[in-house]
Amino acid sequence: MPNKVAYQGGRIPTLGIDVGTSGTRAVIVGDDGAVLASGTEEHANFASPQPGWAEQDPRDWWRAAALAVQKALKASGLKADSVAAVGFSGQMHGAVLLDEKDEVIRPALIWCDQRTEAQSRELERTFGLDRLIQLTSNPPLTNFTLTKLLWVREHEPESWQRVRKIMLPKDYVRLRLTGESASDVADASGTLMLDVAHRTWSLEVLSKTGIDLKLLPKLFESQEVCGRLSGAGATATGLCVGTQVVAGAGDQAAGAVGMGITRAGVVSATIGTSGVVFAATDRPSLDPKGRLHTFCHAIPGRWHVMGVTQAAGLSLRWLRDRIGAGADDGREPYERMSAEAAAAPAGSEGAFWAPYLMGERTPHLDPSARAAFVGLSASHTRAHLIRAVLEGVAYSLKDTFSIFGEIHVPVERIRLGGGGARSPLWQQIQADVYGHEVEILKAEEGAAYGAAILAGVGSGCWKSVDEACDAVVSIAKRVSTNKEAGATMQRGYETYRRIYPALHSIFAENQSASAD
Ligand code: XUL
Repeated sequence: MPNKVAYQGGRIPTLGIDVGTSGTRAVIVGDDGAVLASGTEEHANFASPQPGWAEQDPRDWWRAAALAVQKALKASGLKADSVAAVGFSGQMHGAVLLDEKDEVIRPALIWCDQRTEAQSRELERTFGLDRLIQLTSNPPLTNFTLTKLLWVREHEPESWQRVRKIMLPKDYVRLRLTGESASDVADASGTLMLDVAHRTWSLEVLSKTGIDLKLLPKLFESQEVCGRLSGAGATATGLCVGTQVVAGAGDQAAGAVGMGITRAGVVSATIGTSGVVFAATDRPSLDPKGRLHTFCHAIPGRWHVMGVTQAAGLSLRWLRDRIGAGADDGREPYERMSAEAAAAPAGSEGAFWAPYLMGERTPHLDPSARAAFVGLSASHTRAHLIRAVLEGVAYSLKDTFSIFGEIHVPVERIRLGGGGARSPLWQQIQADVYGHEVEILKAEEGAAYGAAILAGVGSGCWKSVDEACDAVVSIAKRVSTNKEAGATMQRGYETYRRIYPALHSIFAENQSASAD
């Protein structure tokens, strides 16, 4: 994507800021949906002081956000006072802890931190799984914020004593930009402290776990204006004092807005590092087994369900790092791998990949699950291995579609996003595995773009998120299922489903051996 395009509209651009894991991205979007400019700044730190731990310093997110905004503004050539509003998106589930002076007490435990299994089990004992799902629409998972708060309280009581504010990652950046403590119901859904059905903090969860409501930010709908730029925020970013700021959303809901996943029936399958199948719903659709996340959508009166494959694009990156991408012929490494994989037939002649490199969320909810190649023979080649990985990731995403079927979430259209939407082979594999035509968008700009759209709705460029998406999201092409390959993949899926149960006892044994 070019960093800068001439802006013909002369109307009211908005800015979206996505506080990701590896970096922060700022995107300036015109009210015709055109990306006018963007800026990215990498994060300086990601610490894993012990296996399974994941921490980042929130102050570094703010540093990166300020620089990313400065870069985007500079690239746009726009005057700061022409930015109508700012919207946020960010990595979900993190626990930012601040003291009475709004100073960071300890590094944030972030979304992929896995240290809180004991706290998750404790929550299940305290509430009972059914009651917790009734209250928050979700089961206790190590990813969710509440488990991280309980860990800090138990293991670092001195730090916990000093906590005066609990924030999600993007909301800390908002605090630095505006001085306001605020969050939105979409991102707050991933804390396990939100009554997702009623879009408000769950007083029962808070009182039973001893978390003081006063520590939590005030909640807004994603498009609502919840603050204005402070003098300090303006100095750091180059934006204007008083610019309005909307609440925004967690990265998945904001990304879905950017892809037009706003109404029941239209579903996305996005393959980034992780893989997410995301559906908008008119009411909270609960999976009684807790295999899906049921969260508020970034649209008032709507919710969403999503299933998460922990290592989707990560599976392919892992394979590239281990076996290489083949001889350099000027093409991108993933393009070369995709071309190589196309030489193997659908079904990879019996080779399967179970993508559990990082444990698994949907459908197994098992942090100790591990990845496996299954069914290899001496005649399998690199092409088979690569193709098996592409197919295994798609099978894993199909598990979410299967649960959608069980709980009656409608799937009328499927839109592909992320790296999985860029490779023609992976597009076809997904159409064949899902047994459904898939749509590829003209432009997919990720969560920062969705955040800018939310800012556009909040500042009156569009009347609603639906209206905005109808105006700016368009389909570039459709890929339909290949009859023969589709039949092979459906049979393959039935085999794939038997891999995890067959290996489960080995994962459990490995886990207890490494805990000894
Ligand atoms: C969503 C999730 C990720 C993180 C990191 O449940 O864990 O999308 O927000 O991007």
